[in-house]
Amino acid sequence: MTQDELKQAVAKAAVDHIAPHLDRDSIVGVGTGSTANFFIDYLAQHRNDFDGAVASSEATAERLKKHGITVYDLNAVNEIEFYVDGADETNERLELIKGGGGALTREKIVAAVAKTFLCIADGSKKVEILGDFPLPVEVIPMARSHVGREIVKLGGDPVYRDGFVTDNGNIIIDIHNMDISRPILVEEKLNNIVGVVTNGLFAHRPADLLFLGTAEGVQSIA
Ligand code: A5P
Repeated sequence: MTQDELKQAVAKAAVDHIAPHLDRDSIVGVGTGSTANFFIDYLAQHRNDFDGAVASSEATAERLKKHGITVYDLNAVNEIEFYVDGADETNERLELIKGGGGALTREKIVAAVAKTFLCIADGSKKVEILGDFPLPVEVIPMARSHVGREIVKLGGDPVYRDGFVTDNGNIIIDIHNMDISRPILVEEKLNNIVGVVTNGLFAHRPADLLFLGTAEGVQSIA
């Protein structure tokens, strides 16, 4: 199976998983990226079975709307039962690196609100120790150099994502070669740097459930 076929398989499995729980008042939290896009396309088949969605990026909002799914501001919503999103890396504790697409802050916010965070990923995303994938950090533009220097002090190699602006008007620094053997600690230390909006480690709030696409089928890991 190709990587895209694995992504489609987990996206479909996610829709099959949440569909029985949807009612006319349900709001679905929707992530960002190619796997999330497949999820949106399958979710659209159920658009009359739920109220609408909260999007973790402008790109996701646009795709949802194209399918005729109502997109709500998070502040207008009382409850999100499921947040469904991809990941760049996951370990066995379902701690994640996210933000390859730069949407990490809004993703983290929607994940924090949701009762259940269902992560969907192809098998290549499962790792022993997080950190081969460069860890994205969203930064207030004027703090770029300061944050870069602080990241070096923590042992990482900061690389400015040149020309990229987040949906929130900020920049991204990708951290290479960081020791992330203790994800919760690293998440805290990075978030304590003044000028950091947030970082792409989902360790304080890992996924609750992972659907992993493999050649043998979709594995469910909780
Ligand atoms: C977006 O900012 C990311 O967090 C994505 O969820 C992550 O990069 C996974 O993307 P793919 O589904 O495209 O691999």
